[in-house]
Amino acid sequence: MADLVERFVRDHRLANQEEYGELLESLEKPGTGEYLQAEAVKLRKKYYGDKVYVRGLIEFTNICKNGCYYCGINRENHQVERYRLTAEEILECCKNGWRLGFRTFVLQGGEDPWFTDERLTKLVRLIKKAYPDCALTLSVGERSLDSYRRLRRAGADRYLLRHETAEEAHYRYLHPASMSLGKRKQCLFTLKALGFQTGAGFMVGSPGQTYEQLAQDLLFLKELSPEMVGLGPFIPHQATRFAHEPAGSVELTVKLLSVVRVLLPNVLLPATTALGTLALDGRERGLAAGANVVMPNLSPRRNRKQYTLYDNKLYEGEEAAEGLEALSRRVEALGYHLSMERGDITELE
Ligand code: 5AD
Repeated sequence: MADLVERFVRDHRLANQEEYGELLESLEKPGTGEYLQAEAVKLRKKYYGDKVYVRGLIEFTNICKNGCYYCGINRENHQVERYRLTAEEILECCKNGWRLGFRTFVLQGGEDPWFTDERLTKLVRLIKKAYPDCALTLSVGERSLDSYRRLRRAGADRYLLRHETAEEAHYRYLHPASMSLGKRKQCLFTLKALGFQTGAGFMVGSPGQTYEQLAQDLLFLKELSPEMVGLGPFIPHQATRFAHEPAGSVELTVKLLSVVRVLLPNVLLPATTALGTLALDGRERGLAAGANVVMPNLSPRRNRKQYTLYDNKLYEGEEAAEGLEALSRRVEALGYHLSMERGDITELE
């Protein structure tokens, strides 16, 4: 194996962007992907054994003030029917989830201005009071330091905010001028400083993406050292300006999951819905490559098809919380098993 790849496996880091670029190029050589995958599996076993953690995803609002060009629920899309769950409906989702055995709830939504700090902290308190043994993850976008602090004090444990791309020009290509990479990164560092288990991440194969940009993503991930990384293929949505762009590659996504596992050995790494949407065995391939988390959908059935980030998004079968048994069988077939624990990050050795 090339020196650089071996050094990466040994040190869990490379020196600079150029080296990460070289690593990415070497993924195309026969054997490198397999080698990294084997190392990734060793690491996931070292830190998590054969456990696959389960998170109940509650998509509680698809109303969004942002206009991210790739996203199907961006504010410019007037075709999508908008919804916002009430606190009662959200608590009902948690109740269903709790009965099914879930001990982590992920509240994910667009940047919906209705959810002021008052309303959101109240919701967090309600959920944490009703389910003190559960972890609560928020994924509600960019907010102020004060807002993040209040949410943390209210009891939220984790926060997901993908950085989407760590390269300035690419960030601008994917987002309207009202958004900035600087702000996104600032939010992530703030979340970490406040003690949230923090998740960053990006889409693989988003329009205009190059290896240099992916190399910057890896460099940024190492710098931030998030507890969680969300990584899935880009999938076009018909009502966006990127409708006719090709989807990201499943192969590259899977290889990058292995790379991220080696980069951040104890990271919580989901096999994403997007990966499962692009390939029938996508989720399995993600788990076999070093992913250790799955996030079935706990949203009310009637709303699931309205949360269309991209075309053909899965929300039935094993993607749905009710499909837990089928999911469990597929995970067992891979030699792993579903764990219904809270599933916090384990200490790095
Ligand atoms: N394809 C794949 N993933 C997408 N996301 C948004 N739009 C798309 C798309 N078209 C991802 C973004 C966001 C997460 C919630 O969903 O990375 O952070």
